[in-house]
Amino acid sequence: MKDTAHYVSGNLANYANRAAGENPSGEQQVGGDVWADDLFFDALAYIDGIGAYASEERSDVVDCGDGYSIAIDPLDGSSNLASNNSVGTIIGVYDAELPAAGREMVASLMVLYGPYTTLTIARSDRDVVQEHLLRDGHSERWGQFELPAEATVVGLAGKTGERTDEFNAIAQSFERDLKLRYGGATVADLAQVLEYGGLFGYPATTGYPNGKLRVHFESAPLAYLVEAAGGASSDGSQSLLAVEPDGIHDRTPTFLGNTELVDELEAGLSEE
Ligand code: AHG
Ligand code: MN
Ligand code: MN
Ligand code: MN
Repeated sequence: MKDTAHYVSGNLANYANRAAGENPSGEQQVGGDVWADDLFFDALAYIDGIGAYASEERSDVVDCGDGYSIAIDPLDGSSNLASNNSVGTIIGVYDAELPAAGREMVASLMVLYGPYTTLTIARSDRDVVQEHLLRDGHSERWGQFELPAEATVVGLAGKTGERTDEFNAIAQSFERDLKLRYGGATVADLAQVLEYGGLFGYPATTGYPNGKLRVHFESAPLAYLVEAAGGASSDGSQSLLAVEPDGIHDRTPTFLGNTELVDELEAGLSEE
């Protein structure tokens, strides 16, 4: 997996402006989406102990035999490629057949292809660690990773004209006290929250009545990671790990970050 992430980080330039088709979520694919999906499929689907591969870029789960189910967003924030902004990869590892609630996960990771490439990994049997993928392909471990106690940044997605007035009031209160950080790739925006403390979210909007982010490929794996790092997640009223998706491509409103901010958000939404 690390070799693949390292290879992707070194070759994204070749995929900046290649269009592709439409993905199962009905969104415009870019060439990098399909390219990264094929690479990660080859790297993961044939591992002994992997029983299924589900991807943002594939309609159905691919049966790989017996073992854990992989849910992957091969290239997160892929529309950022054309503008040369950060993108990522998100992987959730479930000890269950998919669709499944995030509480069935045993591990999750996110790769951030930024000025350099980092891997943030959470596993049920150890602390969250961050690793640098260095040029020579080796990785340098940064050790136990925890969300800072103090919140500094906030990034809440969606057009204000497509969000509820109640949500906009809550967003405004956060934006009064915290620095705005929103870059269009959940992995990169969440990396700011992990590093500096704060809140990232993609709420329900008129454009995306269930929010834009997908339970299996983005929301639940990142919730697993944030909760393992001492933070919290929510769909507006419960942990994202409790969300029971019906379908592989289901979406959910998604909030990730410091516990007191998630609590404040849930309290504000419950007054609606
Ligand atoms: P993906 O590129 O995997 O489809 O994910 C894009 C998602 C997420 O990464 C990001 O936070 C969000 O789309 C940005 O949405 P907007 O363009 O509506 O801000
Ligand atoms: Mn996409
Ligand atoms: Mn994504
Ligand atoms: Mn994607």
